[in-house]
Amino acid sequence: MADEPKSDVLELRKFVAPEFVHGAGARHLLSQYVHNFSAKHVLLVSDPGVFAAGWVDPLFAALQQDGVQVTLFTDVTPNPKDYEIIAGHEVYLENECDAIVAVGGGSPMDCAKGIGILATNGGDILEYEGVDNIARPLPPMIFIPTTAGTAADVSQFAILTDVTRATKIAIISKALIPDVSLTDPETTVTMGPELTAHVGMDVLTHAVEALGSNASSPITDMHALEAARLVFTHLRTAIAEPENMIAREGMMRASLQAGLAFSNASLGLVHAMAHSLGGNKDLPHGECNAILLPLVMRFNVEAAREKYLRLADWIPGLSPSSTENATLNRVIEAVEILQRDVGANIPLSQIGVQKGDLRELAALACADPCVVTNPRSPSEADVETLFEQAL
Ligand SMILES: [Fe+2]
Repeated sequence: MADEPKSDVLELRKFVAPEFVHGAGARHLLSQYVHNFSAKHVLLVSDPGVFAAGWVDPLFAALQQDGVQVTLFTDVTPNPKDYEIIAGHEVYLENECDAIVAVGGGSPMDCAKGIGILATNGGDILEYEGVDNIARPLPPMIFIPTTAGTAADVSQFAILTDVTRATKIAIISKALIPDVSLTDPETTVTMGPELTAHVGMDVLTHAVEALGSNASSPITDMHALEAARLVFTHLRTAIAEPENMIAREGMMRASLQAGLAFSNASLGLVHAMAHSLGGNKDLPHGECNAILLPLVMRFNVEAAREKYLRLADWIPGLSPSSTENATLNRVIEAVEILQRDVGANIPLSQIGVQKGDLRELAALACADPCVVTNPRSPSEADVETLFEQAL
């Protein structure tokens, strides 16, 4: 087994995480947690897809039955927009809410974080872009993720779309970690195969980028490596057999552990490029990552050499080769094979990206905070070349 890099072992590292309850049925603890915060009126943030899948109504009813007033807000689209956060905040104020519950994938959860920022800090949501710009704690936040992907329910990140600039912004602060996350794999059985594939590849990207990050630590590595193992073990089955609870639980745990890793180690160039694509072209986050991950791994391979060699030990069925270079190649090939098996090996040109877009996309990616922790520092020309290879 490859050794831990000495530099990682000797540096100071902080690790933050929310309280979470993981397991089938965890969502049924919602009322109990709302009462723990003495909340009287909850803003329940979700989106039309999750609402239609039937996950919101029973939770809404259970809260009401337990004496909690609930106002529903579902005007949230993928890649949540700044004006949706403003609208949600108005609903929060009008109804004198005192806590926020998010039920859904990354979009409702990030929107809920934005509403929470405005609820206690006021001002313009775009002013909070960057690291540690939130002065006051958010209201009580309880999250129930329904995709095994984004991990917004455990992370310090909120990714929102600045509509005027047509780009995503990242707000990063310990204040954005929800108070409680109820990670219930049962909520993921209604995801279709394509969404399952995309969010699953997002999880693998979180794991690989946290592992290779300049800000990683032995604690984040432990979560990242186990998350990668879980994705390789369970993603194909979760797609083929949507109601297989062993696979769904494995993917939900992968999402949780990859989230704990990247929330504390940050991410890298795949996410910087995916944020640029997602914000500029309104494309699904997981799909962008799924397309870009192996390409960026090849770009990073020398700089992340020790970490990728450790990853080899955690990919089920991967037999190490006689040389390190051959083993590294097998690691990246394993990611490419998974990408192909889940149907994510499609060119960017097929999802609306054109050659003329690439320069601007590369410039936006290089301005993203995730690029800072990438193991290899890329130039704009490097990033443009990577986009071109994915075209
Ligand atoms: Fe992600």
